[in-house]
Amino acid sequence: MNVQGKHFRTIWVKEDDEKVVQIIDQRNLPHEFIIEDLKNVDDFARAIKDMHVRGAGLIGATAGYGMYIAALEALKESDFDEQVKKSGEKLIATRPTAVNLSWAVDRQLKAMEQASSPEEKTKIALKTAKEIADEDAEFCKRLGEHGAKIIEEISKKKSGETVNILTHCNAGWLAFVDYGSATAPIYAAFDKGIKVHVWVDETRPRNQGARLTAWELEEHGVPYTVIADNVGGHLMQHGLVDLCIVGTDRTTFTGDVANKIGTYLKALAAKDNNVPFYVALPSSTFDWNIRDGVKEIPIEQRGDEEVKYARGFLDGKIREVLLTPKNANSANYAFDVTPSRLVTGLITERGICEASDKAVLELYPENKK
Ligand code: MRU
Repeated sequence: MNVQGKHFRTIWVKEDDEKVVQIIDQRNLPHEFIIEDLKNVDDFARAIKDMHVRGAGLIGATAGYGMYIAALEALKESDFDEQVKKSGEKLIATRPTAVNLSWAVDRQLKAMEQASSPEEKTKIALKTAKEIADEDAEFCKRLGEHGAKIIEEISKKKSGETVNILTHCNAGWLAFVDYGSATAPIYAAFDKGIKVHVWVDETRPRNQGARLTAWELEEHGVPYTVIADNVGGHLMQHGLVDLCIVGTDRTTFTGDVANKIGTYLKALAAKDNNVPFYVALPSSTFDWNIRDGVKEIPIEQRGDEEVKYARGFLDGKIREVLLTPKNANSANYAFDVTPSRLVTGLITERGICEASDKAVLELYPENKK
C-alpha cells in the first residue's frame, strides 16, 4: 500500500544487502515512520515480542524471514540443523496466540528438509521466506475481492448510500505484508467507487485502531471515524452500522475466532442488532487441530504498563502518561474468542463460507482428516 504516494510492504529484504531484513517499526506510528534493520535472530524475536511488527500475517512473514536469518547464523556453527531448530523455538515463544507464527516456522523447517547441505538449506529458507510474504499479500488481495462483494450488495440495497462498516483493532495492511484482512474488502470496494465509511474502534490498551487503522485509511483516502471501544453497541442500536468486519489471530476450523480483546463484545452487540459480523482471514490463520476455540486457544497476557499508561504525541515527542493510581493492579488480556455461532461468515482467499467445520473443510478439503 502507499505511504505518501510511495509503495511499501511491511517487510522486505534490504535492497543492497541480502543479509538484512527491513521492517516498518509500528510502535511510533502514526507520528513517526521509522524503518528498522533486523540482522540476527534476537532482533527478530525482539521485534515480534515488543510489537515493532504485529498482526497475524506479518508475525508469520517475520518468522519466515527470521528463519532465513537463523539459517545464515547457523552456517557459522557445526550443528546447523540443531541451531536452526533452536532459533525456531525462540521465535515461536515470542507470542502465543497468532497461529501464523508456528505455521511459518514449521513451513520453513519442512522446506529446508528438502536439501542436505547447510548452504542449500539457507537458499531454500530465503526462497521460502519470500514465498510466505508473497502468498500473504496475494491471499489478502484475493480475500479483499471476495469481501468487496458483500459491501457492494449492501450498497445496492441502500441505493448507493454510504455503507458503514465497523472494525476492531488493526487488521489492515500493517498487520500483514500488504492489503490487510478486514480492510482488504474495504479498500477493494472503495477503489471500485462504492461509498464507504469506517467506524474505527480505538482498541485499548495499545490503540491499534486509533493509531494504525486510522492512519492506513487516511493514507488511502477512505472516510473514517475513530470511536471509543464502548461506542459500537450504541451505533448498532441506532442503525448506524451496516456490517462489522474484523480480522483474526487464530480461527479454529470449526469457526471460533480469536481476535483482539473486545471483539467478542462487538459480536454480541452485532447479533442482538441483526448486524452481519464477518471475519476476514487468509488460510494461514486457520488452526486445523483445535475444535473448541474458547477452551483451547492460548490467550496472551501482556505487561500491565500497557493498561496503566497511555502513549501519544505531545510537543514534538512520543510520551507516556500514567492513567491509574501508581500502584493500581491491572490485567492485560490481549485477545478473546468469539464463538462461531456469532459469526455470519468467514472471508478467505478461496471465497466466503459459514463459520462451521463443514463449510471450512469444503473450501479446504486438503485439511480433512
Ligand atoms: O496484538 P496485535 O496487534 O498483534 O493483535 C493482532 C491484531 O492486530 C488483531 O487482533 C487483528 O485484528 C487480527 S491480526 C490480523
